[in-house]
Amino acid sequence: MTIIYDSLTGQTKRFAQNLGFPAIHVKLYEGTPEGELFLVTRSINFGKIPQTTKDFLDQYKDKVIGVAVSGNKNWGENYGKAGDSIEAYYNIPLILKFEGSGFKSDRQRVMDWLIKQEEGKKV
Ligand SMILES: Cc1cc2nc3c(=O)[nH]c(=O)nc-3n(C[C@H](O)[C@H](O)[C@H](O)COP(=O)(O)O)c2cc1C
Repeated sequence: MTIIYDSLTGQTKRFAQNLGFPAIHVKLYEGTPEGELFLVTRSINFGKIPQTTKDFLDQYKDKVIGVAVSGNKNWGENYGKAGDSIEAYYNIPLILKFEGSGFKSDRQRVMDWLIKQEEGKKV
């Protein structure tokens, strides 16, 4: 499992780097390491998906097993909306929306989910 993150000001990066798996910036991923990917991205400009995330998904969406999205509740109905759009357009399950770099409990929820996926592959 590799975490792929898209981050401008570092909040998403901080979340991604604390999930217990190797983490790579979205623009630096070039197909290796192989295996499943988990995406951590952010919402911009009224809930839009960043172009860098779109470029990544257009190429690698089949390897992405889930997504978590950072946002800010001040954006109201557009809070974390990039995650809803990714789920709808790319058919990738949205596991969690979180604010900023998230709380420990947010990271734990994603880590538990990731570990469950890894366990599922063993049986
Ligand atoms: C110009 C701008 C637009 C944003 N638009 C949204 C938005 O529509 N919805 C949302 O939930 N958060 C929005 N945010 C908040 C960011 O998604 C949030 O701060 C995120 O943690 C930034 O991640 P980063 O530090 O990894 O770049 C916006 C932030 C900025 C600066």
